[in-house]
Amino acid sequence: MSIALDTLLSRRSVRSFDGRPLEAADRDALEAVFAEARPGPFGGRPRIRLLDAAQAGLADADRAPARIGAYGVVSGARAWLVGAIANAPDACSDFGYVFEGIVLSAAGRGLGTCWLGGTFSRGAAARAVGLAERELLPAVSPVGYPADRRTLVDAAFRLGAGSDGRKPWRELFFDGQPGRPLPASGLGDWAGIFEAVRRAPSASNRQPWRLVRDAPGRVRLLFAENRAYNRALDPVRVQELDLGIAMRHIAEACAATGRTGAWSRLPEDAIKPAAPFAYHATWLGDA
Ligand SMILES: Cc1cc2nc3c(=O)[nH]c(=O)nc-3n(C[C@H](O)[C@H](O)[C@H](O)COP(=O)(O)O)c2cc1C
Repeated sequence: MSIALDTLLSRRSVRSFDGRPLEAADRDALEAVFAEARPGPFGGRPRIRLLDAAQAGLADADRAPARIGAYGVVSGARAWLVGAIANAPDACSDFGYVFEGIVLSAAGRGLGTCWLGGTFSRGAAARAVGLAERELLPAVSPVGYPADRRTLVDAAFRLGAGSDGRKPWRELFFDGQPGRPLPASGLGDWAGIFEAVRRAPSASNRQPWRLVRDAPGRVRLLFAENRAYNRALDPVRVQELDLGIAMRHIAEACAATGRTGAWSRLPEDAIKPAAPFAYHATWLGDA
């Protein structure tokens, strides 16, 4: 399913739902997205389940959907997206990449979602997906129809994370080397592609991604890791989810503007100066 640039730019986290169960057409569409999902850029393939109390076969429902949201940050959600992935060095990037594809497909259908890496019951989610010993359960998301008004908790959470703001361009996007700001003018479609990354969701809205444009269509992704924060939920690397999400936004924004390309990890880019950041991957695509 292709994602419109407008969806990449306008998606926002939704924590207040109207309590309606998912309609069959929406459930089927999401399940088709899981079925078609390709592995992430480093080869990891999450398995993702839609937990929906209304769904046949989940008649007992294990009351899992209600228990997953145990923290009370989310209200009125009747269905949850829960995923697991084999633990490996870049598993969280791959998970972020693939799960964000589902989040964006949902947003394109008018469905609300919210990445939750911390404020959910990991135990209930792990039971619901039958988590294996060597798997990680990096994050979940409610999915459903946004309520007309945000709850107070939702509004407070957005305020706390500064969710409506983003770092300015000059801090995120560089020209040829870290620290040299990339002018937004003269970039053509690429201005929208970079902006699609700037609008990407990230844990506590920390935006740990930096992009260096080395040549037209060639972009290096650097990691501004906050080590303690990234590792607080060990073995999950919460900020590496953010990197995978950003990688998905570039891939989808390029596709939406008629471009092809792919992410790779390139030895020649790994030795380029990146300080104070760390090299993660390179987008090689059409100018
Ligand atoms: C990996 C990840 C983990 C997140 N964890 C939580 C969480 O535990 N609880 C929560 O309410 N929001 C969580 N969020 C949502 C972010 O706070 C939100 O994406 C950010 O503030 C930007 O707001 P926006 O998504 O509306 O653009 C998470 C987002 C990401 C990407």
